[in-house]
Amino acid sequence: MTTQRTEPQAQIFDAEIVAKAQNLINRYPQSRSALLPMLHLVQSVQGHVSQEGIDFCAQQLGLSEAEVSAVVTFYTMYKRRPCGEHLVSVCTNTLCAALGGDAIYKQLGEHLGVGHEEVAGEPGAPGSIMLEHAECLAACDLGPVLQVNYEYYDNQTPESALELVQALQRGEKPAPSRGAPLTDFKGAELQLAGFFPEDEETYRSHVDGPSQAVETLRGARMAADRGWTAPVMEDVPLPEVEKK
Ligand code: FES
Repeated sequence: MTTQRTEPQAQIFDAEIVAKAQNLINRYPQSRSALLPMLHLVQSVQGHVSQEGIDFCAQQLGLSEAEVSAVVTFYTMYKRRPCGEHLVSVCTNTLCAALGGDAIYKQLGEHLGVGHEEVAGEPGAPGSIMLEHAECLAACDLGPVLQVNYEYYDNQTPESALELVQALQRGEKPAPSRGAPLTDFKGAELQLAGFFPEDEETYRSHVDGPSQAVETLRGARMAADRGWTAPVMEDVPLPEVEKK
């Protein structure tokens, strides 16, 4: 991988971000366990994981750059190229693809003039959008689905998906089908890192939303009606973890 450094790391990750990184480290018995949320924290600052972001995580956690890079390149949620204001993920896995996911992806790709993990517009600027193929988004009963910054838009068509993306380009934030209200990619990354407003009312306004879909509940209701239950798990003691 090519190593490109732009600004000095301290200019990018200020004292507030360093404090947040320390907050994450304090949540775990072993500091290296904080790597995944810390990478989301890095993305909340830059909109992707830059080489400086990798250096920052490595220094904070006492890891090598190679160890951090190995994790960044493994998970698709960590972007190596600057993301748009919004990330639009279209499920093109088998079920959604058959129900219209491929047609949705094609429609959006043509409209935006981009391919997988490319950005329409100036990355990070208002209305800019990164488009990506996504594997199963765990909402097959509501397919075809897409996500914007990981919030769900269920039962989509090429037409509804196009309207959604055009609204995003105009600066609007249409309500997701369920889950938290739509923010932007960087805001979602801060939430994924585990940081939320402290006062209850603001916190609720950031995370509350309809959390269930009728289609999904139908299975649970059938199981309850028929007395089906999951097999009992054996209680296995957790191994001791070395204290910091
Ligand atoms: S195949 Fe699209 S959500 Fe499962």
